Amino acid sequence: MLLTDALIMWAHLIAASIWVGGSIFIGIVLAPLLKTISDSVEGRLSIMIRVGRRFNMIGVPSLIVLILTGIYNSVGIIEKPSMIFGTNYGIVLFVKIILVIVLIVIFAIHVRLIRTEVEKKIESQSLSGEHLQKLRSKIIMLGRLTVIVSVVILLMASLLHSGV
Ligand code: HEM
Repeated sequence: MLLTDALIMWAHLIAASIWVGGSIFIGIVLAPLLKTISDSVEGRLSIMIRVGRRFNMIGVPSLIVLILTGIYNSVGIIEKPSMIFGTNYGIVLFVKIILVIVLIVIFAIHVRLIRTEVEKKIESQSLSGEHLQKLRSKIIMLGRLTVIVSVVILLMASLLHSGV
């Protein structure tokens, strides 16, 4: 049982590293660097979309693993609703779950924004400059929000761990 708990927490930690590390890398390292790689907004957007798609291949499974292992870690608390609002641990866990839901919503908006037909329009240069700029700002804003919410989720994990 103890070994199972440790292995489940290990999976939770690996998935958290992939999700948070990957989001920070894309938002803070790659996005600003793109200006030096391509002069055109189309070029930058198209690289960003392709990198995002590639990242999703490990990012989405990581998010699913985080949710499943997170539910396993929380089973003792979730089963007793009185513990959710009756203890600090329960309240922090509740806030963490809400933030994860917010993260999923941000992610869903992000995926909708860069669906395949939009990518094709970017590549065929059939979007106006204004439209492209708006799309770029929205993608950057959603990327930043993903990083901020993910980092706050880590703060909640740290509060849970230290038993504040
Ligand atoms: C983006 C999503 C998530 C991230 C980045 C994340 C991150 C982490 C990290 C780094 C820890 C380790 C803290 C420690 O050392 O104990 C942790 C623990 C934990 N997580 Fe998550 N987590 C996420 C999602 C979830 C979800 C969805 C749930 C619940 C449904 C959850 C429930 C828990 C619980 C109960 C612990 C154990 C805390 C303890 O008592 O030590 N997590 N999480």
